[in-house]
Amino acid sequence: MKLSKRALSINPSSTLAIDAKAKKMKAEGVDIIGFGAGEPDFDTPKHIKEAAVEAIKEGFTKYTPASGMIELKQAVCEKFKKDNGLSYSPENIVISNGAKHSLVNTFQAICNPRDEVIIPTPCWVSYPEMVKLANGKPVLLKSTEEEGFKPTIEEFLSAVTDKTKAIVINSPGNPTGMIYTEEELRAIAKLAVERKIYIISDEIYEKLIYDGFKHISIASFDDKIKELTILINGVSKSYAMTGWRIGYTASNEKIAKIMANMQSHATSNPNSIAQKAALAALNGADDIIDTMVTEFIKRRDYMVFRINSIKGISCIKPNGAFYVMMNISKLIGKKIEGIEIKGSDVFADVLLENANVALVPGSGFGSDIHVRLSYATSFENITEGLNRIEKLLETVI
Ligand SMILES: Cc1ncc(COP(=O)(O)O)c(C=O)c1O
Repeated sequence: MKLSKRALSINPSSTLAIDAKAKKMKAEGVDIIGFGAGEPDFDTPKHIKEAAVEAIKEGFTKYTPASGMIELKQAVCEKFKKDNGLSYSPENIVISNGAKHSLVNTFQAICNPRDEVIIPTPCWVSYPEMVKLANGKPVLLKSTEEEGFKPTIEEFLSAVTDKTKAIVINSPGNPTGMIYTEEELRAIAKLAVERKIYIISDEIYEKLIYDGFKHISIASFDDKIKELTILINGVSKSYAMTGWRIGYTASNEKIAKIMANMQSHATSNPNSIAQKAALAALNGADDIIDTMVTEFIKRRDYMVFRINSIKGISCIKPNGAFYVMMNISKLIGKKIEGIEIKGSDVFADVLLENANVALVPGSGFGSDIHVRLSYATSFENITEGLNRIEKLLETVI
């Protein structure tokens, strides 16, 4: 029997193959150093866990409104006011099962068949597949390391057609850690308003920002761009809560309503206990963020220094999130342990097999001359992993 063409068009996560191999080797007792983590290596703070325990004890274990409980929506509105200078009311907010779910809802809500969605690359692997799932057409807009992994406004302009429905902005970004400046965001906002294009602004790494950069939400410039922006955020990365699965959107009321309707038939409410935990996170102290930022800066600085002192590889310094895009272009065409490095997949495989270091090939992000290293792992692991990379690269011919 024939299966859904749309479902069949979805690529498996590119990170999966190497991850599965690394896990298998680890299970066999191989000492693997993993640079693949997409989540903070910190525990969820105690007061957040306690709020969840309290929720269970007091019997907060039933359905909530499908688009989330009102107290949490109010806390999200307060967060937007405090952090982003944005005024929303609960009618603008939809609480979902993680920011990933918020993004899926968003594309489902706005896309008609063949609507184009511009996605700057290197990009997070899920965006293009989510657009395809919504019957839209992902338009991948390349950017180079020299551009700081950000397309110029001219490049954005040249990608716009009369079918363009939305532009995805992810700042700070995964996998590059880059941040758009206010000037760049204003130019993109102007383009969006002039051409009536939605902006999907994924701000999940908002709090993980370094070097004096300040996070600016594109929706905050004026009411026109606010009306066109669907803002994505959540508690996963800021509060070390990836497993709790709480994300949220802020959008105009019409879009929020459509997403709430869809969600009511697809998943109903996000987990009631996790919602209580997210409420405690948003209303509580931000100590965890300060701790993570201090530690991430230390690790990033060391990783960037080490990479740039090893022959054959290099990287630019990212200003946010917890990833470094390592350039391997000088190794392409060379041989390591007798194997020709044709691209990032082969490099990642050779590294795993011969140095027992796992990282993510850039092919899935849209750049085959890069690999992604996460520094959401201990300083000791970073040191040992880079030692191993250095040693292996001494054998390059
Ligand atoms: C850019 C980006 N957006 C969204 C998400 C999804 O986060 P959540 O855990 O809230 O689904 C991730 C997770 O890796 C991400 O990197």
